[in-house]
Amino acid sequence: MKNNKLAFVLVTAVAIAIVGAGLSLFFSRFINLTGGGGDMMPMQQETVLPPADPQRETTAAVTYSPPSPQDAPAAIREAVLLGYNILTESGKYASQYVGNKLSCTNCHFKAGITEGGKNGGLSLVGVGATYPQYRKRQDYAVDLVTRTNDCFKRSMNGRPLPEESKEMTAIVTYYQWISKGLPVYAEIPWLGTQHLQSGHAPDKTKGGQLFSAKCSVCHGKNGEGTSAAPPLWGDTSFNDGAGMHKPANLAAFAHLNMPLGNPDLSVEDALDVAEYVSARPRPHFSGKQ
Ligand code: HEC
Ligand code: HEC
Repeated sequence: MKNNKLAFVLVTAVAIAIVGAGLSLFFSRFINLTGGGGDMMPMQQETVLPPADPQRETTAAVTYSPPSPQDAPAAIREAVLLGYNILTESGKYASQYVGNKLSCTNCHFKAGITEGGKNGGLSLVGVGATYPQYRKRQDYAVDLVTRTNDCFKRSMNGRPLPEESKEMTAIVTYYQWISKGLPVYAEIPWLGTQHLQSGHAPDKTKGGQLFSAKCSVCHGKNGEGTSAAPPLWGDTSFNDGAGMHKPANLAAFAHLNMPLGNPDLSVEDALDVAEYVSARPRPHFSGKQ
């Protein structure tokens, strides 16, 4: 009798321990905060990047694998996929609101699903967890609707989407989905534009020569775009209110990504070519749209 009782207690204890361990493993996939709260990092650490070129690598070696749009649960899948389509083919899926030949993905590579290291491809992974956010331009916190419409009005030289439109809801749902699992207001190392550190005074003339030598083959002799790459200036490109119009943003983007597939511009070259491209004619942002 006594032995049976002891065995029962033991078996129950072991069973509870197994279930407990299983549950904590299960939940640790969703919640996994270390660093004592103050310094929260995204936790789905899949890969640690190898030590990179010291000139290029500045941020923490953390990567995160965002879920793919196709894997969204049935209830939000249609919205997530529409959001993805708008980002990749903006002129087709949000035609009323786009005023140029660009798609979001021309700057936010892979529809924003890039992560790790410096934010070369202007990742949007994590924006769902880091907005509303303070913005200098407004001197107040802005939400993702306002922030997205900034890119519609400026980068896309178009018109703002109504907040409650199907398209805007789809875009915001898409952001939330690709941010899944990242702690709210975590410090996400790959978000935000990082400017090149240099005391170099940009040389526009040299920038023009660099453009002809390194960019025009894809972006066209007059920056008008070709079947290989989108326009950099002119009527069909971003307007002068866009983030990419600022030489500091364009220089960092070009240094990290261009020529596409084989980025090889030195910091000085990138500053020169950005100065040149920024000074080319493009639509004016009236500020009223
Ligand atoms: C010409 C390049 C370009 C295009 C096209 C573009 N964007 Fe952007 N976008 C930027 C730049 C540059 C920034 C960062 C600007 C800054 O910090 O001033 C940005 C920032 C953002 C942010 C905020 C990201 C953050 O980390 O806070 C969102 C959201 C966004 N864009 C969405 C979109 C959407 C949606 C589209 C398409 C409708 C789009 N963008 C098209 C260049 C572009
Ligand atoms: C091999 C072709 C190629 C070359 C060369 C190239 N680019 Fe690009 N560039 C692209 C493509 C393609 C995209 C859009 C990427 C996408 O949609 O995923 C792009 C996007 C851009 C963008 C953002 C979208 C836009 O049109 O405003 C800028 C800015 C840019 N390139 C600047 C440059 C600069 C500056 C150079 C020269 C130093 C350069 N590129 C050379 C192919 C190229």
